[in-house]
Amino acid sequence: MKHAVVILAAGKGTRMKSARPKVLHPLLGEPMIRYPVRAALASGAERVVVVVGHGADEVRGALADLPVLFAEQGEPLGTAHALRAAGGVLETFDGPVVVLGGDTPLVSPATLAAPATALVAQGGEGMALLTLTLEDPTGYGRVLRGADGRVRAIVEEKDAGPEERGVREVNSGVYAFDRRVWGFLDTLSNQNAAGEYYLPDVVRRYLEAGLPVAAVPAPDPAELLGANDRAQLAVLEGILLDRLRRRWMRSGVRMHLPETIYLEPSVRLAPDAVLEPGVVLKGATEIGEGARIGAYSVVADSVIAPGAEVRPHSVLEGARLAAGAVAGPFARLRPGAVLEEGAFVGNFVEVKKARLGPGVKAGHLAYLGDAEVGEGTNVGAGVITANYDGERKHRTVVGRRAFLGSNSVLVAPVTIGEEAFVAGGSTITKDVPDGALAIARGRQKVLEGWVWRRRREYPKEREERS
Ligand code: UD1
Ligand code: CA
Repeated sequence: MKHAVVILAAGKGTRMKSARPKVLHPLLGEPMIRYPVRAALASGAERVVVVVGHGADEVRGALADLPVLFAEQGEPLGTAHALRAAGGVLETFDGPVVVLGGDTPLVSPATLAAPATALVAQGGEGMALLTLTLEDPTGYGRVLRGADGRVRAIVEEKDAGPEERGVREVNSGVYAFDRRVWGFLDTLSNQNAAGEYYLPDVVRRYLEAGLPVAAVPAPDPAELLGANDRAQLAVLEGILLDRLRRRWMRSGVRMHLPETIYLEPSVRLAPDAVLEPGVVLKGATEIGEGARIGAYSVVADSVIAPGAEVRPHSVLEGARLAAGAVAGPFARLRPGAVLEEGAFVGNFVEVKKARLGPGVKAGHLAYLGDAEVGEGTNVGAGVITANYDGERKHRTVVGRRAFLGSNSVLVAPVTIGEEAFVAGGSTITKDVPDGALAIARGRQKVLEGWVWRRRREYPKEREERS
């Protein structure tokens, strides 16, 4: 029998102490709500309904590409009130209705299907809920069982007495209900410590009606941890990261001090890639076979070809390194930076929207923006492409095997020919033809004996100073 899933995501998330709705806090770069929604879609659900309220437009926006239905809760008056909002879409649905909080991001499709399976096992009647047994049950609703071991009720922490608080079996917040839930929701009261309509209170209604309530221990409790505050959010992110790192290490990636490495699920890594301590990999990044990313480098939306190397403390965003290219230490590659085979960019070199041909060397302290640098060209220390005239950006084109002397400024638009030579310290404002030397700087004057003559002219002042 097919099930439907309702994800409650209308709450404010007061405990996050944030202007951002709780379910939009990112986990590994992606809004939390996307995780349970993806699990719900993968669980074989016939319909997935997301209940929105606080920050509704933003939550809808974060899910715009996924095939889900939305229900509006309006004012968030509690989890039972939230589920009620989904009634309009699901009251006629004939099958188990699985409900969970949008703040339960680690849940797997199989675990989501588990309460529905339990419900079907009891003839599709009544309800089922997944429970967890935690060392520290703080914040969760406690599961109270009778002498016969059956569930009697769930009591929220705020309403629990000291003895009840000692119970370590808690409500995971993942349930499956039959159609009667819609009627029961209208009978609940909000006379409790939070002044809210509690969804777990429907347990009593089912029991009063003599219907079965199954409380099934969750197959993997870690999957059902909730993210109510920043500390829990960090724990969940740590679990996701750990899974991700293990997966990549099993597929042949070398990680030094893996617990210091951050990477997002969108990143792709080839076998024998090496990640040094403190590396951060984000977005659509791909690291090729045998490529190395040096310690404390941040690489976002970049493609590093097999055998290329990013040396420590480099920051790359939207860059591409071909085989054998090297960047860093302390390189800054911005969007559109392309290092072709064997090109090298060293410390304190910034590259933006620029293609460095094969074997180009820019060892130190340069800015190459909106530029094309031909194969084998040497870019001296301190070379700057002056690409911006205050209004617009202009291109610099440098031919193959050219030599750009230290501290030269190439005022764009400008073209430097093949094998041309720009003398150090030049400010180049006009094109330089192939094979030419360009010198554009004050001519050096040498005044022989000038220092000694000066000494003879001012002997007294010199003595007083010393
Ligand atoms: C809830 C359960 C608790 C369980 C825990 C498991 C209740 C009353 N308590 O507590 O028994 O142990 O989950 O994680 O249900 N929401 C709405 N509208 C509202 C209120 C909440 O959509 O009016 C949404 C929230 O956005 C959240 C989810 O429901 O995604 C759960 O709400 P939350 O306040 O986090 O409940 P807990 O206190 O964690
Ligand atoms: Ca919660």
